[in-house]
Amino acid sequence: MARPKLSKLNPMDFTKMTPARQAKIEAAPAKALPPTDSYKPNQLANALHPEIQYLKVSKIVEHGKDAKSYWLEPNAEKGTTALAWFSAGQYLSISLEIGNIKLSRPYSLSSSPRESMEGHYMLTIKRVKDGLASNYILDNWKVGTEVTASEPLGVFTYEPLRDADTVIGIAGGSGITPFRSLAKAIADGDEDANLILLYGSRTLDDAIFQEEFKALEKSCDKFKLVNVLSDETDATCEKGFITAELIKKYAPEGNYSLFLCGPQAMYEFVDKEIATLGLRRKFVRHELFGEYFNPSKEADYPANVAPEFKVTVRIAGNETTITAPADTSLLRSLEANGIAAPAHCRSGECGWCHSRLVSGEVYTPKSVDGRREADLIYGYIHPCCAFPLSDVTIEVPPVRK
Ligand code: FES
Repeated sequence: MARPKLSKLNPMDFTKMTPARQAKIEAAPAKALPPTDSYKPNQLANALHPEIQYLKVSKIVEHGKDAKSYWLEPNAEKGTTALAWFSAGQYLSISLEIGNIKLSRPYSLSSSPRESMEGHYMLTIKRVKDGLASNYILDNWKVGTEVTASEPLGVFTYEPLRDADTVIGIAGGSGITPFRSLAKAIADGDEDANLILLYGSRTLDDAIFQEEFKALEKSCDKFKLVNVLSDETDATCEKGFITAELIKKYAPEGNYSLFLCGPQAMYEFVDKEIATLGLRRKFVRHELFGEYFNPSKEADYPANVAPEFKVTVRIAGNETTITAPADTSLLRSLEANGIAAPAHCRSGECGWCHSRLVSGEVYTPKSVDGRREADLIYGYIHPCCAFPLSDVTIEVPPVRK
């Protein structure tokens, strides 16, 4: 018998049915299958990994004049009835519309997983000079504000198989948020690690969660806080910056992991210090929200790049041309021009912004280039970490929801 062409094969057209299968098919009731989301495993998968979560601000806690914590509860009217589980250190990507700019920003969860099971996430936002999204949230979110968020994402989490028993957390500015989550998760017994937190701030007043951390230190012998103040002296704190010497002073004998979360300037300083410690690469972890990269500071950034270029964007069948500064990521330039593009981590890691470079040339800093080899071969880029080096045309997928 001639074999049917592959393209015409239908796996449901059995030519040699076993009698047992034939009997089962004949005995089956002639009714439609239940919808796929009625199956328990699918319900569990959707609860753990909802593509979108509709939330509502339920409480606001102020930390001095420049930072606030927002409690977010499920917005049942919009269809979210429970919060997705997360690991300490993960973030939510928050969708925002500011004037004609549609954008998303990742914010680390400052609440512990246990607190989310009790009904709320917490995001802690600090005012940043010229910061668009953070300052918008601080000035506009009120109790009752509706918030659209992704599922919890990110890999800045404690993994006992990879990380050492003791984590030295290095935090600066709003980079303290994942460490509050981790410290609470350790105290709750949900993470089995020791955390020594070196928390850099200008003054003690600038350090948030201070009282909570002090109370945690008393109740949990696996957590220790060390404030490091750059601009004032306090007998209970270290003075200066987080140097290799300071890390060695508090590090345990043997292995330890370093987890860093803070502003770019902190990484630039601390990374040089860490390089002198001779730690294995797997023991040094960064949380990177890296779109504020200044590409011209990179050693391999080409010389004499023009200040701006034309960027033609193809998205959902439309084509738009914008002017984009060379020192700004393509993603930020799209958003500044009111073009909504998919993004979560904004640091080259998640691949959510994955787009095709149709023509032209871009620069991607090595430390945030999370593309696969196939992306490089077939011309894909991550606009969150790509900076134009010429006029370019890119094909961007539409925002999924
Ligand atoms: S937004 Fe995650 S890789 Fe670009």
